[in-house]
Formats: sequence, C-alpha cells, structure tokens
Amino acid sequence: MELAELYRDCRTYRRFTQEPVPAALVRGLVDVARQRSCGRNGQVLRYVSVTTPENVKAMQPLLHWAAALPKEIGTPREGEQPTAFVVVAKPKDANPIISNIDLGIALDAMAITAWQQGVGSAILAAVDRAKIAALLGLPEGLEVNVVLALGHPSHKSTLVPAEEEKPLAYYVDEKRDYYVPKLSLEAVLTEK
Ligand SMILES: Cc1cc2nc3c(=O)[nH]c(=O)nc-3n(C[C@H](O)[C@H](O)[C@H](O)COP(=O)(O)O)c2cc1C
Repeated sequence: MELAELYRDCRTYRRFTQEPVPAALVRGLVDVARQRSCGRNGQVLRYVSVTTPENVKAMQPLLHWAAALPKEIGTPREGEQPTAFVVVAKPKDANPIISNIDLGIALDAMAITAWQQGVGSAILAAVDRAKIAALLGLPEGLEVNVVLALGHPSHKSTLVPAEEEKPLAYYVDEKRDYYVPKLSLEAVLTEK
C-alpha cells in the first residue's frame, strides 16, 4: 500500500475485537521507535509494553476516551477494549520541547508500523499517570507521558472535509463509526 494511503487510514481507533496483539509485534514497534530521530540523539524515551491479560485489564480504568463524545458512546465497553499498550515514559527532568517532539515522532512511527500490520491504535494523553506508573512499577525519575492503545479495530473511521464555521470535533453515526473533519490543504498550506 502507498504510504499516503496507509497514513490516510491510520486513524484513531477506540473499539477493538478481542484478538490479542502479540508481545512480539509490540516489541517490533518499540524497536522501530528507538531507531527514529530524536533531539541531540539523546534517546530519553522509555517504553513499557503491556500485553499480559491482567495488566491489560488493569490499564483500562486508567484511560480517558473521546472527550468530544458522551462517555457511553466514546469509551470502549468490556469486549471492545484495546488488547495491548505501549506506555511511553520520559525522565522528569527531560527538556520539554525536545522530548515532546521525540515523543510525537516515536508515537507516529509506532502507530503507522502497527497499522501496516493491521493493528489500529489510539494515542492517549488523558491518562492517570501516577496510577499507571504505580501499576507498572516505573522507576523513580521517570514519568508516564502518553499511552498508545493497540488492537484490531472493530469500527470504521472516515476523514471528511471540515466545513467552514463548523466545529472540528469528530462525531459518530448510529453504528458508532467515526467521522473526522480535516481542514483542506488550501486551508493549512501557503505556497510562496
Ligand atoms: C497528542 C494526542 C493526544 C490524544 N489524547 C487522546 C485521549 O486522551 N483520548 C482519546 O480518546 N483520544 C485522544 N487522542 C486522539 C485524538 O482525539 C484524535 O487524534 C483526533 O480526534 C483526530 O482523529 P484521527 O487521529 O483519526 O485523525 C489524542 C491524539 C493526540 C495526537
């Protein structure tokens, strides 16, 4: 598949079949991320792969889904939840600008690599960081930053053109399939 097409369909997925995502696949995602560019080649990010059923279950209540939707619509129910996670952590004293860029690069690399293998993802910043750190026994000095939720999607998500004066918030239809308004190329690009 063309890279542009892969990116187009690599959306945020919030409901999943319960087919497990193997630990080896998650390991492969982190292996890609660790080789990507990072500020000063500092390599400050650390990753926790969460794939055991008990830890995957314990993670679920520590995540907050789809702020734009009512909870009963946007939050995955039991039987729809992600089946693996990558928790990304960084040192508490990391340079915030550099490490946040590193984080974005790493998350995108993992999301697209997963998607190429049919595994969907959601980047989650609304997470209970202290509780996740305690659950996973994160070493002192590191803090949880973002969680990449993973699984085989059980819903569709489609890009639609953003309409002028209308909110950019995503929405769902009666099947809880997602629609994600995106601004046009003309709206975001200036060519000189
Ligand atoms: C930095 C970042 C943080 C996000 N945090 C959350 C989150 O906590 N919960 C959630 O359900 N979605 C979260 N999302 C997913 C966004 O809502 C989603 O990317 C956006 O609605 C656009 O949809 P798309 O990814 O399909 O383009 C996050 C995405 C990014 C990039």
